Amino acid sequence: MNLPFPFPVVRWTGQSVRLIDQTRLPGELVFRDCTTVDQLCAAIRELAVRGAPAIGVAAAFGMVLANHRGEPLDEARARLAATRPTAVNLFWALERMAQVADPDGLLAEAEAIMAEDLAMGRAMGEAGQALLPDPCTVLTHCNAGGLATAGYGTALGVVYAAHEAGKRITVFADETRPLLQGARLTAWELQARGIPVTVLPDVAAATVLRQGRVDAVITGADRIAANGDVANKIGTYPLAALAARHGVPFYVAVPSSTIDPATASGDSIPIEERDPDEVHRFGGERFTPEGVAAHNPAFDVTPAELVAAIVTEDGVHRPPYRFASA
Ligand code: MRU
Repeated sequence: MNLPFPFPVVRWTGQSVRLIDQTRLPGELVFRDCTTVDQLCAAIRELAVRGAPAIGVAAAFGMVLANHRGEPLDEARARLAATRPTAVNLFWALERMAQVADPDGLLAEAEAIMAEDLAMGRAMGEAGQALLPDPCTVLTHCNAGGLATAGYGTALGVVYAAHEAGKRITVFADETRPLLQGARLTAWELQARGIPVTVLPDVAAATVLRQGRVDAVITGADRIAANGDVANKIGTYPLAALAARHGVPFYVAVPSSTIDPATASGDSIPIEERDPDEVHRFGGERFTPEGVAAHNPAFDVTPAELVAAIVTEDGVHRPPYRFASA
C-alpha cells in the first residue's frame, strides 16, 4: 500500500472511526474501523491508536461517533475519558468537544482539532529543527512521530523538518520496552520517510551518549506541568539524566494541547499503570517465573531542570518554565 504523508492516523468514514492499527505495525499496515464507542475505547486502551495528540484526535471523533449512533454524549465522553489517564490531550480534546453547543457541529470541531494538530506539528518542527546542527544524530524514545499525532509528529516532526531543510540527520531509536513503540513504530515511519535509523536496546543509550555519538535527545510528552516537568513514556527520565551527565541537550517537542497549566508540577500528573503481563510476556510467551510480580508504569516524570528547551508551535521555550492558562 502506498501510504500518504502526513499519515492518515484517524479518520471519520461517515459510519466509523477508522484508525491505522498500530498493534499490527510494522508487520502489516491495516486499518481498524470502530463502529461503537466501546470499540474505540478498547482501541485506545490496547494502543491501536496511541500517542497523546492522536488519542485526543481519536476521542474527538469518538464524540462524532456517539452522536451518529444517538448515544448520550455525556456518557460517551465519560467512557472515552476513562481510557488512559496521563495524556492531557485526551481531556483537552473532550473538553473542546463538550463546548460544541449544536451536535451538528461536532464533526467540524473534530476535523478542526485534527487540522490544528497537523499545523502545530509543522510549526514546532520548523522551530525545533533550528536547534539542530548539520550533520546531526538525534536519540529519541518511544514514538512521537506521525503515528502518535494527527499525522506529522512532534519529536519526529523536528527530525522531518530538519530533513526537509536539507540537514543530514540520522536517528537512534530506543526500542522502548515493554511495548516496543520505538523499535516497531519509530523505526517503521523513519524508514518509510527515507531517514537513516538505528534501533537501540534502551540500556544502550548510556553507551552511545558516553561515546559522543549523539548531538541531541528529543522526545515528545504526554503532559507537561506548569513548572515544565515532563511526563512521557517510561524510560524518558533516565535518558534526560544521562543526557545531562554527558552534556547533550535534552529537548521536548509538544503541541500546546500537551501543556497542562492546571497541574502545578509533575508530582500531580496521574501515571498510568498497565497490565503486568506486558512485562511478563513477549509474543504471548511468559518469560518471568510464575508467581513473581511485575511493575509496569507506562510513563515517568522528568524534572524540568533536566529539560534544555520545550518546543511548541509558538517557538522554543527555555527554563525557567512557567506555563499559564491562555
Ligand atoms: O503509551 P503510548 O505509546 O501512548 O506513549 C506515547 C508517548 O509516550 C509519546 O512519547 C507521547 O505521547 C508523545 S506523542 C507525540
